[in-house]
Amino acid sequence: MLAEVAAGLAAPQKELPPKYFYDQRGSELFEEITRLPEYYPTRTERALLQGWMPELMAQLGTRTLIELGAGSAEKSRLILDAMRATGLAELYVPIDVSASFLSQTAAKLRREYPGLRVEPAVADIAEELNLPRRIPRPALFAFLGSTIGNFYPPAAIRLLARVRAAMAPGDRFLLGVDLRKDIARLEAAYNDSKGITAEFNRNMLRVLNHELGADFDPEAFEHRAFYDTGGHRIEMHLVSSRDQLVTIPGLEPVVLARGESIRTEISSKYDRESVAALFEAAELRIEAWPTDPTTPFGLVVGAPA
Ligand code: AVJ
Repeated sequence: MLAEVAAGLAAPQKELPPKYFYDQRGSELFEEITRLPEYYPTRTERALLQGWMPELMAQLGTRTLIELGAGSAEKSRLILDAMRATGLAELYVPIDVSASFLSQTAAKLRREYPGLRVEPAVADIAEELNLPRRIPRPALFAFLGSTIGNFYPPAAIRLLARVRAAMAPGDRFLLGVDLRKDIARLEAAYNDSKGITAEFNRNMLRVLNHELGADFDPEAFEHRAFYDTGGHRIEMHLVSSRDQLVTIPGLEPVVLARGESIRTEISSKYDRESVAALFEAAELRIEAWPTDPTTPFGLVVGAPA
């Protein structure tokens, strides 16, 4: 973590990886974001899953669900319910970095879905998947919530290629992607009127203080989120409201000028061509785009190319 933070803060555009938003408080703030009127992705995706999963699961005959970055497993239930309805559900593999979080989720799901094997895998999906050895096929790999949007294209392709490498011929990949749309609507989703997203953004500094003994003053940074039209992505930054020096034990002091920013997240927005390009680079193909590409959010079904 220290090495990653050091590298990010040494770059001309200072940058910190978005995975550091999510300690206990960060996860709670994100949950709160998903309920905001401006933040359409979560509820749109949920509605799409509700509508499409029964048909898709019946079609695919999925026996294993492998979920990347399992979150609160709330959406997983929509897939698991549809899987169970076919009578074919055997195994659920939630993958997450947090072992304690995973064992809680796993215990809950075992109670809710007797007969379903739940084998959580602890892994940072940016690095590896760490899957169990024997997987009943066909399997569905799911990566929801448009979390793919947090990765720069080369890292996104590496991640998809890793999924592709783990797929058997009949397996499928379900990807949730946020779509390009009206800029005002995109920017509103990351600049909510209650300021929850701003708190979520600043929380990363609290995480660094706690984990690394840094002395960031979160109140000395302002939240900024904007849509970069050329890059087709929302960028979130923390803007230093004064000249300041931040100490992180083990590193040179970090100098921030007033108005200078640290980029904390990109959230890429897609269309059919851009998803096709990512897939192609990872040797996947779009098998189906079951949702209307004019909806605010897309669910894409991929297959080995
Ligand atoms: C969880 C990465 C999908 O990019 O929209 C929400 C995170 N950041 N508000 C997103 C987030 C600011 C979210 N993802």
